[in-house]
Amino acid sequence: MWEYTDKVRDHFFNPRNVGEIEDADGTGEVGSLACGDALKLTFKLDKDGRIKDAKFKTFGCASAIATSSVLTEMIKGKNLEEAAKVTNKDIAEYLGGLPEQKMHCSVMGREALEAAIENYRTGGKKKHELEGKVVCTCFGVTENEIERVIRENDLTTVEQVTNYCKAGGGCGGCKGEIEKIIERVQGEKAKEPVVTIPKKGRKLTNIQKIQLVQQTINEEIRPALRAHGGNIELIDVDGNKVIVGFRGMCAQCLLTEFTLKDVVEAKLREFVSPELYVEEDKDSAQQPHHHRG
Ligand code: FES
Repeated sequence: MWEYTDKVRDHFFNPRNVGEIEDADGTGEVGSLACGDALKLTFKLDKDGRIKDAKFKTFGCASAIATSSVLTEMIKGKNLEEAAKVTNKDIAEYLGGLPEQKMHCSVMGREALEAAIENYRTGGKKKHELEGKVVCTCFGVTENEIERVIRENDLTTVEQVTNYCKAGGGCGGCKGEIEKIIERVQGEKAKEPVVTIPKKGRKLTNIQKIQLVQQTINEEIRPALRAHGGNIELIDVDGNKVIVGFRGMCAQCLLTEFTLKDVVEAKLREFVSPELYVEEDKDSAQQPHHHRG
């Protein structure tokens, strides 16, 4: 038996938004019955371009039903730009996690959403086609899709790739090629800096958040303070609270504490996460210094 979270169970036993919107603005269909999974997603927009209603139909397992159900809930109220940013990771996280072997359900959800948005943007003319060369002919998975699940979920083995997009799960004839794609993508990743400034809306792990806060302080904030004869030290990060200590500056030669906090907060929100707020750790502050001479 798979280990399912309560959220998965809830959405499986009480799926929301099952069905099909008759006069839908966007329709996306992915998967195929031959593979045992298929998903059709339809949505309707309101006059402001936000998703007013979304419905799904799926032939799939408990996870496919739960991920589709949760996805329709997640995208309601979003405009298409926001909806397009939902990743398969977001879907899985929203459900409190999915068994690794079932991650492809969350990928299928995201694909159906993409297909539906594309369908809307092209005025219903274009049927979603996965671009790129087909690597896994058993499941019709393209090189682009394989690359994408590797990148977005940081996969390192063929088995993981199969769990996320089914490629390699049939005859196995494509495993060598999947292996090569993993090597290439991971090789490219290794060249990227460890911490990158994230796209807005991306979820950070605690460690990434702390690293990014530190990096932003080092690169964006400290140089500016130094120019004014001051300095800043990161003391702690507690949830969204960033505790810092200001150093080596005195009232008459600097910005007021208020603006200082504002500037730091603004930078951290810009580069790390809009939810952050800054507090000063006064206890750690040094005694005020005096101008020499
Ligand atoms: S070609 Fe990929 S499993 Fe058969």
